[in-house]
Amino acid sequence: MTIPMDTGLSDTRPTRILAIETSCDETAAAVIDNGRYIRSNVIASQIELHQQYGGVFPEMASRAHIEAIATVIQRATHDAGATWESIDAVGVTKGPGLPGSLVVGVNAAKGICLARDLPLIGVNHLEGHIYSHWLEDAPITRLGEQPFPLLALIVSGGHTELVVVRDHGQYELIGNTVDDAAGEAFDKVARMLGLGYPGGPAIETAARSGNPTRFKLSRPRMDKPYNFSFSGAKTAVLYALRKFGGAADATHGVSPRVPVADIAASFQESVVDWLAEKTVRAAEAYDVKGIVVGGGVSANQALRERLTAIAGARSARSFTVLFPPLALCTDNAAMIGAAAHYAYLRGARDQLDMDVLPDLKIG
Ligand code: KG4
Ligand code: ZN
Repeated sequence: MTIPMDTGLSDTRPTRILAIETSCDETAAAVIDNGRYIRSNVIASQIELHQQYGGVFPEMASRAHIEAIATVIQRATHDAGATWESIDAVGVTKGPGLPGSLVVGVNAAKGICLARDLPLIGVNHLEGHIYSHWLEDAPITRLGEQPFPLLALIVSGGHTELVVVRDHGQYELIGNTVDDAAGEAFDKVARMLGLGYPGGPAIETAARSGNPTRFKLSRPRMDKPYNFSFSGAKTAVLYALRKFGGAADATHGVSPRVPVADIAASFQESVVDWLAEKTVRAAEAYDVKGIVVGGGVSANQALRERLTAIAGARSARSFTVLFPPLALCTDNAAMIGAAAHYAYLRGARDQLDMDVLPDLKIG
């Protein structure tokens, strides 16, 4: 077997990582060879469980992880045809995330490392989203042999971060949300409009038949140039709802007079345009080689189109924008395996007393 890009290995046996991810509401395990090849990628979603509450219920998430974790890991090794002897290290998300969810994955990883005398590698979940671009057909190679510096936009249910990636494992956080995360805003607005959970896909679908210019959502001025704030957009949606006699929390559905599609489209337009505009401005300021996007919101088609259009239409220079395949946008263990692989090559190792880091930052 030949060794693919950038592994730094001289022998011919691939480095094999068993990766585990339980930071939020997906119980996931994967077997990844050389930080790139997905031998298995198992995800047990808790969406149905949380749908009845309109969001993730931490205590229930933790318990659902406990029930699923062993089966998910067994299935990942089985699907990959991987023996325990073939695994070189175990990578696991150590944070950020829900504490009660993170501990389930971390303890499972520790148990395996203890029993098999394997190295433990704690991975930052945000780093995982960035490394989704190194998987399979490795879209990152479109930026050339050396893709750094790179700009990463991470947009998910818990995060809205702009990160300059200077090299493998070297990050500089340049922008963040000061209140809600982008995906969280999608989820809250969807709930207000009676569109269900998760909100992102529901808003995207509703927005297709709506008029994105009907409502103007103002954008607050930020102290730092690459920061975001989404609570104002949420409040604007609330006022629009009130104007049409809709309920603030629409568990019983909104009034038929509420123009749900127009509100959804206007909200999405506002969020997507702001994300795209700031991201491209940051790419120019930091003179990066390209832009990678990750996290659940990167599945949004309107964001994909707008960001690609703005990044390609700058007068000074254009930027290549990469999005992961849809299945790798939302939480998965394959991306944790890719990140763990490069950490493994750098010699990163964690001890068996490693704690979870629910508020872990990047950069
Ligand atoms: O990355 P992810 O699976 O979990 C976190 O780490 O948070 O992201 C989930 C988030 C949810 O808020 C969901 O509403 C949002 O991603 N999302 C979307 C879309 N698909 C998922 N937001 C906008 N448009 C979508 N198509
Ligand atoms: Zn995530």
